[in-house]
Amino acid sequence: MQNSSALQVAIVGTGYVGLTTGVALAHLGHTVVGVDQDPGKVQMLREGRSPIHEVHLEDLLRASGEQLRFTTHLSEGLQGADVAIIAVGTPPKPNGEADTRYVEAVAREIAQHLTEGQRLVVVVKSTVPIGSNQRVASVIARVLRERQVQAHVSFASNPEFLREGMALYDTFYPDRIVVGTADDHATTVLRQLYRPLLEQTFTPPPGLPRPSAFPLPPLVTTDTTSAEMIKYAANAFLATKISFINEIAGLCERVGADVTEVARGMGLDTRIGSRFLQAGLGWGGSCFPKDTQALQAVAAEYGYTMPIIQAARDVNARQRKLMVEKLQRTLKVLRGRTVAVLGLAFKPGTDDVRDSAGMDVLRMLLECDVHLRAYDPVALDAAQRALPDMEVDWAYTAQEALEGADAVLIATEWEEFQTLDWAVLATRMRTPVVVDGRNVLNPAALRAAGFTYVGVGR
Ligand code: UGA
Repeated sequence: MQNSSALQVAIVGTGYVGLTTGVALAHLGHTVVGVDQDPGKVQMLREGRSPIHEVHLEDLLRASGEQLRFTTHLSEGLQGADVAIIAVGTPPKPNGEADTRYVEAVAREIAQHLTEGQRLVVVVKSTVPIGSNQRVASVIARVLRERQVQAHVSFASNPEFLREGMALYDTFYPDRIVVGTADDHATTVLRQLYRPLLEQTFTPPPGLPRPSAFPLPPLVTTDTTSAEMIKYAANAFLATKISFINEIAGLCERVGADVTEVARGMGLDTRIGSRFLQAGLGWGGSCFPKDTQALQAVAAEYGYTMPIIQAARDVNARQRKLMVEKLQRTLKVLRGRTVAVLGLAFKPGTDDVRDSAGMDVLRMLLECDVHLRAYDPVALDAAQRALPDMEVDWAYTAQEALEGADAVLIATEWEEFQTLDWAVLATRMRTPVVVDGRNVLNPAALRAAGFTYVGVGR
């Protein structure tokens, strides 16, 4: 679908963010080169295989044809490129700060390959600490000076707001697109890049229909520092919202209220909104834990404290411990018991087990000498790789995990767990106890099936 407004884009880093963005931009008609230093990954991608589990990603990757290529050579990606998007990882340093060394290395390499007179918009999509965009600009300027090359480089911060498991949906149907820059050329080019999204003129990819009455997403143009802050503030707010409802859930349990009802009643207030008010085991993954920590690290640099963010993190950690306590209160003695943990991914729709609540509970239960069975429909391999030496019986079906168990704990709200035949499963367990760490089962139905049901805040 080549058109006159199509741009040439190099995307550096083919992780969640880079790959999803690349595949989506190719679908929008741009010509995209995905650059990754890992030859194995590049080979996989060339064969149309996705290194990550993300719904529709592989189909779209295969359908992208000439629009999307992959290489290990940045110079190849930069040839004729209008835009270079940096989407490499920013893992946490021991002090919680996000490590921007890979971002800076890419910036340096971009500068090394720029040619005399080349015009390029460098976009930072990686989640980076405040001031990093400035740093990228100065790194590139320095290398160009050293090489005595004159190139016209513009810079923009363009944070992503995509959820794992919903990454393509969020890319095609965003709530907003944020661009932070002081450069008019960068704004013009990014507006052109995202025009099909802003105007919703693209043909929806198979399996990803446009939601009905989808409002056109605004382009939020702002300064670079504010754009960087928007990303951290949004994630910190969402994490706090979840911790807030989890804190309320604890009080609901004590006073006899049902937190799912409370969340429904609260969420209907449009000022509050119903999303991210699902009480349970709390948040995990590669973003909320890391970003809340990084925000605190930035604050500390400026001698500032963020007690709300700290409280959100504390409540989140407590939520995991409470789940083990609930099991203990129900089973009395934990040592020697057999517990089945259903769900190891940090949320449904992904095989990502990074900072997953289920994995954490698994570790805590092992410390209590519990005999563990664990099952996840997608993340089993990733979980095994993450805990290779742990004495866990990895099960290949939920039924297998529950056979003869003293209790089952739901740690991820995979749909599959809602449709299990719980009445039959009750007869297969030694004691039918369910701790529903995500409040996804119907307590009345479970009790009718013979279970002792323990939820969160209900
Ligand atoms: C999050 C943000 O939602 C994205 O907007 C952002 O772009 C992304 O981080 C990022 O910075 O890259 P993600 O980490 O993929 O996305 O997952 P979420 O869907 O936000 O869920 C995070 C955690 O919160 C999960 O463990 C989930 O189970 C938990 N959660 C979510 C709840 O416990 N309750 C809720 O109501 C919602």
